[in-house]
Amino acid sequence: MSGATFDFSDRVAVITGAAGGIGGALAELLARSGASVVLADLDETAVSARAAALAGLPGRAIGVGLDAADPESIDGLVDVVRERFGRIDLLVPSAGVYPESLVAETSDEQWRSVQRINLDGVFMLIKRAIPLMRSGASIVNLTSVAGHRGSYGHAHYAASKGGLIAFTRTLALELGPQGVRVNAVSPGIIDTAMTADARAAKGDEWIAATPLRRDGTPEEIASTIAFLLSDAASFVHGEVVHVNGGLFMAG
Ligand SMILES: NC(=O)c1ccc[n+]([C@@H]2O[C@H](COP(=O)([O-])OP(=O)(O)OC[C@H]3O[C@@H](n4cnc5c(N)ncnc54)[C@H](O)[C@@H]3O)[C@@H](O)[C@H]2O)c1
Repeated sequence: MSGATFDFSDRVAVITGAAGGIGGALAELLARSGASVVLADLDETAVSARAAALAGLPGRAIGVGLDAADPESIDGLVDVVRERFGRIDLLVPSAGVYPESLVAETSDEQWRSVQRINLDGVFMLIKRAIPLMRSGASIVNLTSVAGHRGSYGHAHYAASKGGLIAFTRTLALELGPQGVRVNAVSPGIIDTAMTADARAAKGDEWIAATPLRRDGTPEEIASTIAFLLSDAASFVHGEVVHVNGGLFMAG
């Protein structure tokens, strides 16, 4: 559990997957730190409730329904942000899916569906957000240890996250001269709904492979993302930060 504090007063943040574990923890941290936060998710009811629950914090929070794989839906989100706030300072596309399927049993459509949400969706959102981002703005993508090492039974997921690493670095080359920083975080095993089934099936094995001998919390990923978004990381650019209790190093 992280008690990190930051000052994001007067910043406008957009987080997708904000009804989820990591996006939700980040939304709470940024709103507590003074940012206006737009929480977007496929689950519009959940994300609106989460935004309402942040009402007592210094930053304003609004919830918006979004299908991160649908260009028209992304257009709708960017329109809302442009109309309500006029700009984006902090952008974290956290929406993602983690289905299980061996390559030999994965249909073409299952493969495409994962790429559409995890990879195409990030490209489509960032491309549309760029005109709203000024010097000093910052993007953090959510990759995964799977994007570096592969992940048995999750080739479509691993490929999407490996693609995001290359996308992040290329974006850093293109946006750096405009003063927009771009980085990524690669979490290990984090205690959220995404990994609940897998942790139930092989949690002991994963914990044994993790030198800190536990899963991470969404708050521990959120605080690393917030650091990368903050001025404390003003010269950190084009990096992929591992947060995994030592799992990556030990493996
Ligand atoms: N939990 C982990 O161990 C872990 C590890 C590595 C990387 N990550 C990455 O972190 C990010 C957040 O994961 P999490 O653990 O918070 O997962 P989560 O399942 O708790 O949250 C994911 C959120 O994405 C939303 N979502 C799914 N499809 C969507 C779509 N088409 N449009 C909009 N929203 C959609 C879901 O409704 C959910 O609220 C993901 O990109 C994930 O791949 C997580």
